[in-house]
Amino acid sequence: MLVPGAPVIVVKALREHRMTPFDAIGSYLDQMDVSAWRYFPVVGSTNDMALNWAKQGAPDWALVVADAQTAGRGRAGRHWVTEPGCALAFSLVFRLSPDEIANYARLAALGGLGLINALEGLGLKASLKWPNDVLLSGAKVGGVLVESSWLADQLEAVVIGLGVNVSFGSVPPTEKLRYPAIDIQSALERPVDRWLLLAQIVHGLRNYRNILAEDAFVVACNQYLSWRDEWVRFQMPGEQPQRVRIMGITSDGRLSVETQSGSKFEVLTGEIIMRND
Ligand code: BTN
Repeated sequence: MLVPGAPVIVVKALREHRMTPFDAIGSYLDQMDVSAWRYFPVVGSTNDMALNWAKQGAPDWALVVADAQTAGRGRAGRHWVTEPGCALAFSLVFRLSPDEIANYARLAALGGLGLINALEGLGLKASLKWPNDVLLSGAKVGGVLVESSWLADQLEAVVIGLGVNVSFGSVPPTEKLRYPAIDIQSALERPVDRWLLLAQIVHGLRNYRNILAEDAFVVACNQYLSWRDEWVRFQMPGEQPQRVRIMGITSDGRLSVETQSGSKFEVLTGEIIMRND
């Protein structure tokens, strides 16, 4: 029986090498470029598991991955659905260096760039919808949720959670969506190996984390930014949507926009409104 929250396989050094239905996943995860991993067939939220593990001392680049989530969450407390067998839901623990802490506001984009990098490897051109989404053909293929673990006023660890629509069944029915969504298999028109994709995303995250504090990171954010120089509907918290032109992402992770009256400003929170909103 699958018990939500029960780890099937734990830190790789401790893993028992006996045949289980999860051996195939285990051997993929063993080869992955992470420091340690925990796999759950069903879990509430991988971010919660990673935050708890961080409190217990999980190392930098520790990975929590689940086949399905029962209480996955997204930005602004929204529910994130992860059905079994068709999506990626995972979280990585980062122990940030002082340079990285200074660039905390770039971490959501880091998650997005890691996924975009992996999709490029599959021949797909994806874009970064500020602040935390990845789009393929104008529809959402993945989202990033960054959360932190604090000890008093000390940042202990950061957890970067990614949810990716991999194959049929991962995209909820249209009436439940606030935005157009797509899965990678539909875009590619061929099956995708979830675990290989996970390895490629981790690789992409490593590449971009290496340059997190550099100007090149901001250049990459702007290179992949959705609707750059285009007019979109944009809503700030508690305000009516307005039309703005997206100018770019700033070095501190804000979105720089221009209104129809010509005024320019930078926003820290807000939402670019897509078709189903
Ligand atoms: C968003 O689009 O608002 C972000 C979605 C992030 C979902 C992922 S799935 C893995 C990790 N665990 C969670 O509960 N959320 C993130």
